[in-house]
Amino acid sequence: MAHLLVAPSLLSADFSAPGEAVRAIDASGADWVHFDVMDGSFVPNITFGHKLVADTRPFSPLPFDAHLMTEHPDRHITDFACAGADLITVHLEAAVHIHRILTAIHDLGKKAGIAIVPSTPVSALTEVLSVTDLVLVMTVNPGFGGQKLIPATLDKARALCSIRKEKNYPFLISVDGGINEETAPLVREAGVDVVVTGSAFFTTADQARFVRTMRGT
Ligand code: DX5
Ligand code: ZN
Repeated sequence: MAHLLVAPSLLSADFSAPGEAVRAIDASGADWVHFDVMDGSFVPNITFGHKLVADTRPFSPLPFDAHLMTEHPDRHITDFACAGADLITVHLEAAVHIHRILTAIHDLGKKAGIAIVPSTPVSALTEVLSVTDLVLVMTVNPGFGGQKLIPATLDKARALCSIRKEKNYPFLISVDGGINEETAPLVREAGVDVVVTGSAFFTTADQARFVRTMRGT
């Protein structure tokens, strides 16, 4: 089993000091910094825009993983690419021309991810799996941190593992929502490559130990 990548989400950080939160993620031994971008329309909540990515970029060399929970993601990918995001993930449910958007993210020189909410089946991804670098399986209904993982969503991660093996696709499988010390073993068993964790990371007393626990090391 390759090294499980841990991507703490800024969603649960103290927004009065985002740079310090990114520095803490870096110091914890985590692998990526996850930015939960919410527009108050695609999901109920509003969080932040590309300026937060740009302003926190100097605080860590870790890959910045921008998860766009927004309508019209095509309008935002250039700003996030210029701000310093390394991976830009858009929701399948947010646009008709997703194949074009994933290609546009690659044309910007960035990795492209596709996210699906709990009610979207893996079969809806069939035509874009060959042009994506990451599939983000939402393990909660997006919009808020601190929710409980929906166990049935892990079957989607398992299905993606099989499809990837069968077709020899290179995409990573990531899960996001309700990932903590209790659910991490379940998630590892489902064969994912990346875990996004927000509230559990920012409430633990020992973030380095928490990251090791996510990896099962
Ligand atoms: C969508 C967000 C959250 C966040 C993780 O709601 O994408 O899932 O990253 O939040 P926790 O780890 O607190 O469930
Ligand atoms: Zn996210």
